[in-house]
Amino acid sequence: MPQPTWRIFIADPIHAAGEALLRAAADVTEVRVEPGLAGDALAARLAQGFHALIVRSRTRVTADLLAAATGLRVVGRAGVGVDNIDLDAARQRGVVVVNAPTASTEAVAEHTLALLFAVARSIAQADASLKAGRWEKKRFMGIELAGRTLGLIGVGRIGAAVARRAAGLGMTVLGYDPYLTAEEIRDRGARPVPTLEELLAQADVVSVHVPLTPQTRGLLGPTAFERLKPGAIVLGTARGGVIDEDALLAALESGRVRGAGLDVFAQEPPGPSPLVTHPRVVVTPHIAAQTEEAQQRVARDIATEVLAALRGEPLRWRVV
Ligand code: MLT
Repeated sequence: MPQPTWRIFIADPIHAAGEALLRAAADVTEVRVEPGLAGDALAARLAQGFHALIVRSRTRVTADLLAAATGLRVVGRAGVGVDNIDLDAARQRGVVVVNAPTASTEAVAEHTLALLFAVARSIAQADASLKAGRWEKKRFMGIELAGRTLGLIGVGRIGAAVARRAAGLGMTVLGYDPYLTAEEIRDRGARPVPTLEELLAQADVVSVHVPLTPQTRGLLGPTAFERLKPGAIVLGTARGGVIDEDALLAALESGRVRGAGLDVFAQEPPGPSPLVTHPRVVVTPHIAAQTEEAQQRVARDIATEVLAALRGEPLRWRVV
């Protein structure tokens, strides 16, 4: 009996290392890289008989798309977050969804710390000021991180990686995660706190490390900001939408929040919103996972996983 062969569609470019792995597979007849398609145009392309679709966060894999792509067996998310994929629709259609959840852990943790230093010492603002020809030493009075308390909302892989680094800076690390036991949180390097309210009241720096789900959307909203320790720093490198941006802006304006470091936004790109342009906010364009090392690992991991799914082999990171 002839062995099946596979056609793979890459909708959002991945590192060449992953593409090479797919192209080298004897049972893959086509790897098509065609970025920029969405909605009906993407559906029409996939309906041409592609078996696998690889996306990052840009492409939305909707129920309509999955309905049109009748030959699709697997969707590979080259990254961690799967909030751009309709998981229920995939489940109903028997389409496997896999991701690459471990590849970017260190990169995202490092970027979280980079934003924290940038906010604590006004690095971006001081850089812009000096480049504009000014010498404003008094304006840029910072704060030290040693001796302060970091509150992690979510102590998964990335939260734990941030905890390890923060401990090295001499920070006390608290962790709130309703999906983990107190012992598991402790094993990941944080002191467990039973409620979000307690974490908000104690932390000098609050860093969010949870996926965007119906339960976490708006988790840091107006009530949460009222409970926040005055003068706290807020960091968002997980997913836009977990931090309510209007509530954060109000808290910055009232002085409750000292500063914020944001890599993710409810809408991306966010445009020059009052939050993005706020003088005490440091922003980056969703680049926390964007390192050479992480993107190589992400691409290799997702290529390997997609091939395994097509071949019916055991999967490491099956989401659906
Ligand atoms: C992820 O979920 O892996 C990161 O946010 C980066 C990305 O969206 O690709």
